[in-house]
Amino acid sequence: MIEQATNSKAGTSVSQLRCIGCGRTALPDRFRCEHCRDLLEIIYPGWNDCGAAGLSASSLKKLWLARRSSLDPVDQSGVWRFREMLPEIPQTQIITIKEGNTPVYELPHCARTAGVKQLFAKHQGMNPTGSFKDTGMTVAASFARQAGYKWVACASTGNTSASMAAYAARGGLHSLVLIPDGKISWSKLSQSLDYGAITCQLKTDFDGCVRVLNEVVERMPVYLLNSVNPYRVEGQKTAAFELLEQSDWQVPDHIIVPGGNLANSSAIGKALREMKQLGFISRLPKISVIQAEGANPLVRTIRENGGETLIPVHAETMATAIRIGNPASWKKALRVINESEGTVEQVSEIEIAVAKAEIGAEGIGCEPASAVTLAGLKKLAKSGFVKSNQSVVLVLTGHLLKDSEFTLKFHRGDLFAESSQAPEGRELKANQRAPIILEPSVNAVIELLQSAEKQKPNEP
Ligand code: F0G
Repeated sequence: MIEQATNSKAGTSVSQLRCIGCGRTALPDRFRCEHCRDLLEIIYPGWNDCGAAGLSASSLKKLWLARRSSLDPVDQSGVWRFREMLPEIPQTQIITIKEGNTPVYELPHCARTAGVKQLFAKHQGMNPTGSFKDTGMTVAASFARQAGYKWVACASTGNTSASMAAYAARGGLHSLVLIPDGKISWSKLSQSLDYGAITCQLKTDFDGCVRVLNEVVERMPVYLLNSVNPYRVEGQKTAAFELLEQSDWQVPDHIIVPGGNLANSSAIGKALREMKQLGFISRLPKISVIQAEGANPLVRTIRENGGETLIPVHAETMATAIRIGNPASWKKALRVINESEGTVEQVSEIEIAVAKAEIGAEGIGCEPASAVTLAGLKKLAKSGFVKSNQSVVLVLTGHLLKDSEFTLKFHRGDLFAESSQAPEGRELKANQRAPIILEPSVNAVIELLQSAEKQKPNEP
């Protein structure tokens, strides 16, 4: 059964699509400006005069908190709870699987290794399909349904497709998934199969899948749910609203986000910009984007030409979620970094794997693409960009179980078999916790326990 809203009080704001390049407005179901081909973003013209849905920041803070105890499915969604900041969609059309409402965890051991006093993680991997994509998908899939589309489609490195397939199934829509053959994790592939999407593995990379899909949606009545879709960006904003609410509206000094197609950093930056505009907060945190060294188009673009034009790369990284060389939302992300005075950083495969194991050792865990945030923080703290007494939030984007193969290979020592002699080899070994094969003997287990007891555990 589709969970539908019953509350008749709308509470959303009237929205428009506007080109980020030339500023012209566009029809509600477009993705690019018809004049200059730049991406579109959603704006709320009414906010200038009377705030979001005519309410002040303090009234909205109280309203959102009160919705936490409501039994209405739309209020129970950690996205639609903030609906005054989202495009208007009739509540009977909303497809929700109770997304959002994700935890913020303190990571004391990771703070120590990174060289900062306090470190928090907003874990978007705790969403219903295991990634941050659900927060955007509930908005964009609901829009597709209310606009009358029967089919939705995406190209994906695995998480968007899992999420889209789930929301399509819940909303009675058909879904088409294009993924790069052999380059996404089995768990993500299995999700889109189980949720009932038509799933095609193309013999190309993510950027190649995007090229094919862009042509398909031009010719067929299929609604594109890739992150160029501005409704997805709107839903993904809510992670920042929720984070600020969870921090009693105290603004952290830094927010660190992984960068792939660069929509999530854009969404979080847009949310903070809007919160400042509406008087929820008085300053912006610095928003920094971390990429894998082998998939670093934004890092290169900023370092080599100051952000003038995108430098696409042929992407290669074991963090397959962010194996993207030609990111669609680079201009939006660049604006966020510039206006928040954030930065970019790149990290190696070994740095990603070590950081992932460190987040796992806190009893939290995440997928490889999320761990670039901790690996990047270590570098930013070392360079002095992040000061040891500043507050930092990492955005963890995917659940640990999204890529078990990577995790198993890492702990068994198979991920970097040839690097064991390298200086980083020691750091790798220190974080590996391989399974131990034993005879079924009580003494053998007790001996192992005794020798393990001598090792110092993580202090709480
Ligand atoms: N982290 C995870 C776990 C992801 O799945 C992605 C993107 C990102 C980070 C990067 O976010 O693209 O907004 O910069 N995954 C997409 C997908 C591309 O198809 O699932 P971004």
